[in-house]
Amino acid sequence: MCGIVGYAGSAYAQDIILDGLKRLEYRGYDSAGMAVLDGDRLQVRKRAGKLARLVESLTGNSLPGSLGVGHTRWATHGEPNETNAHPHLSADGRIAVVHNGIVENASQLRHSLEAEGIVFRSGTDTEVLAHLIARHYAGNLPEAVARCMREAEGAMAICVVMQGQGGLMVGARRGSPLIVGLGDGEMFIASDVPTILSRTRRVIYLEEGDICTLRRDRCDILDAAGAPVERLVVEVTFDSAAAEKEGYPHFMLKEIHQQPSVVSHQILTYAGDRGGHISLPGLIPLYERMESLNRIVIVACGTAWHAGIVGKYLIERFARVPVEVEMASEFRYGDRVLDDRTLVLLITQSGETADTVEAMRMAKRSARCTLAIVNVEGSTIAREADAALFTHAGPEVGVASTKGYTSQLSALALFALDLAGKRNVLCEEELCVWLDRLRAIPDMMERCISRRDAVRNCARKPVYRDALHAMFIGRGFGYASALEGALKLKEISYIHVEGYAAGEMKHGPIALVTDALPVICIATRDAVHSKMLSNMQEIKARGGQIIGIVSDGDTAGAELCNDVFFVPECPAPFSPLLAAIPLQLFAYYVADALGRDVDQPRNLAKSVTVE
Ligand code: G6P
Repeated sequence: MCGIVGYAGSAYAQDIILDGLKRLEYRGYDSAGMAVLDGDRLQVRKRAGKLARLVESLTGNSLPGSLGVGHTRWATHGEPNETNAHPHLSADGRIAVVHNGIVENASQLRHSLEAEGIVFRSGTDTEVLAHLIARHYAGNLPEAVARCMREAEGAMAICVVMQGQGGLMVGARRGSPLIVGLGDGEMFIASDVPTILSRTRRVIYLEEGDICTLRRDRCDILDAAGAPVERLVVEVTFDSAAAEKEGYPHFMLKEIHQQPSVVSHQILTYAGDRGGHISLPGLIPLYERMESLNRIVIVACGTAWHAGIVGKYLIERFARVPVEVEMASEFRYGDRVLDDRTLVLLITQSGETADTVEAMRMAKRSARCTLAIVNVEGSTIAREADAALFTHAGPEVGVASTKGYTSQLSALALFALDLAGKRNVLCEEELCVWLDRLRAIPDMMERCISRRDAVRNCARKPVYRDALHAMFIGRGFGYASALEGALKLKEISYIHVEGYAAGEMKHGPIALVTDALPVICIATRDAVHSKMLSNMQEIKARGGQIIGIVSDGDTAGAELCNDVFFVPECPAPFSPLLAAIPLQLFAYYVADALGRDVDQPRNLAKSVTVE
């Protein structure tokens, strides 16, 4: 992961870099650092821990200069301490490098550099790059960077400054994203567009293998073959809306509360406020191929993969097309059988998850049709997939996805219904009925949120808050909700949690049930409701502590539970949109009661840009 920002201009580089790092912290927060050139003096400051520690160290002791690079780290090679924080310097201290990615042949390169007498200061793979650039430097920094990139294997984006270069900064990308921002008398390099949007809207998306050389008033790019190239300058129209907490104690809680309006806005955008017509303009490039479609493979990671499971059930239920759901990290290294009539559907909030990006590229290389359900416009997947359906969730800052997830669910529902209409599985009147049911969901989500106090009071009970283990179970659509509920609680509370298909309980997990095991049962009314009640009876008989997610008025379900979170009754295909809310709130309030860092849980990052 890691976030990179570079500045060449005439303003105070330190402040611009810090502002950029603040926006990039979602990519990692193990340490942060910067290198600033003041005339010919290169100064470096870095700190372990959150960006706030770097800011503290600069207060009253700032780094002057108007050219510099900054970095926020998610540790891959080497523990997250100050020595391993970026930037890394060449042995003579003249070259500073920040890096996002992994140098896969770092240990071989390190051995050969050590054999030449180089003494390494850190345990990182990045330091190898600083020494390699120095080894190749013969008066031309871009050329030295190009040679370094040829020698280093793996996916990476780097930004380099060097003493004695007269205000020049070099960036290079291969496999990891890097953009250039063109300002008025100032230039930027960054891992993503929002980092620099407060200063310019004119950006260049660097392509694979590009090396850019920036001066405050000039940008030169060499392509992968080393030839000078002009890249398209894009005027970015999307909003950088500096994400603020707006009175909420955490971004996660704010984002939970935003869900009804995000989903409602999305449905209104794509299906209006009445009728049976869906308009998904992003899908137009695929329409011809969609007619002959006979299989969909959904590829995603993390929470987006859970959305993919709901997507499978939705598409099979409404459009009657067979769907498989794959984790991107498995799909991309597998040897899948895909034919011309297979659509590869990528689901991703960020549009930058390394495994999902590579899965998409792999599918494209074999001429398969790719569609992305994606939130971040301008992201790698949004730009490279054959077609994109935007979820319009706005910036999601909390590492644990909330509105990113539910906006994926509503987009998948719209996609499934649209496909059903196009394939004549549902007629317009049926579509109209289903769309009206979907349009009713945001109000129901609002009702779920209004019941948050009941969830908070329950989450604070020692039996749940202090549990060492917990289990989430469900069937059908409830199974997907169980997986997502389990991930939410696990990632922000650090409690060991498993999500299981309820029907599998008897094949092992029921052995874990004791009176110390909270079991969260997704038991909303649907075709498998009675089967869920049987599961709950079996858990109750063994003393398990049951929290039920139960439909309003379901007294039989509620009676089996120690605690209940009621949700309005809705059609099963849309039930994950409602179940998500008490599950997210439960995870949030447990984690908060335990004093966890809810928005930035340990060891995680929002955007996983390394494999
Ligand atoms: C990380 C995030 C998750 C997210 C996953 C996939 O693990 O912490 O919240 O679900 O990446 O990210 P994507 O941006 O591809 O949806």
